[in-house]
Amino acid sequence: MTKEAQQYIESRTPLRPSIGVVLGSGLGAFADELTERTDIPYGDIPGWPGSTAVGHAGKLTVGKLGSLVVAVMAGRAHLYEGYSPAQVTYGVRVLGSIGVRSMVFTNAAGGINLELERGGLVLISDHINLQGSNPLTGPNDDSLGPRFPDMSDAYCREFRETAKAVAVELCIPMPEGVYAAMLGPSYETPAEIRYLRAIGADVVGMSTVPEVIVANHMGMKVLGISCVTNMAAGILPQKIHHEEVLETGAMVRDTLVRFLKALLPRLEA
Ligand code: HPA
Repeated sequence: MTKEAQQYIESRTPLRPSIGVVLGSGLGAFADELTERTDIPYGDIPGWPGSTAVGHAGKLTVGKLGSLVVAVMAGRAHLYEGYSPAQVTYGVRVLGSIGVRSMVFTNAAGGINLELERGGLVLISDHINLQGSNPLTGPNDDSLGPRFPDMSDAYCREFRETAKAVAVELCIPMPEGVYAAMLGPSYETPAEIRYLRAIGADVVGMSTVPEVIVANHMGMKVLGISCVTNMAAGILPQKIHHEEVLETGAMVRDTLVRFLKALLPRLEA
């Protein structure tokens, strides 16, 4: 299924990435930091779904950060765009097929925990899947991973410890939090946000969880970072606009780039 995409990417670059990064809404600057890089528009890769969301570039960049070879996905497909769970996770499957063993997922999220602030970063410690689907339903390909993958360490503990240490060194506040994934595309109601807070969620978004499930299925190590682009519905006396999400993403982008540059070389596969 991913063979053609794998062969295509391998024909475009001699580099073989060991780590992958997915950049969420308005966060697509990190790819520019790579050297010896090859940019591949998603549309050129066999089977790869396009990205229709505003603020998503829609390209795969393979390049080097020092001696580390990295694959960066700027933009992702979402379930709310009408893509299937298989399409939403296709990129992660393809990166796995070209040898990627660790993934760093970033996303824009609404802050549910009242201690969070717009513009802050949150290290995802766990998630709650409320999207009503799972990318692993259907026949299991045993060559990729087990039928019933364990998810008790879905966000690698070791990676989180490293991320926390790097954040302290760079003086970037980075509390841990639980990410609740909703289907979207409508933002939540205030009542839904109170519910999510009651069940233990700290941030809410519309992505990442299917990709994290597939990465775990393939035995990859995962790190997740949310950028709190807005306070969730009902917390502030104002409406939520996608423009605010993108604006905050742009504000945080440089901090995130600084963090990823310091972090990635320290993540052991
Ligand atoms: N809710 C869901 N997804 C989001 C939000 C939000 O408030 N902000 C950014 N992505």
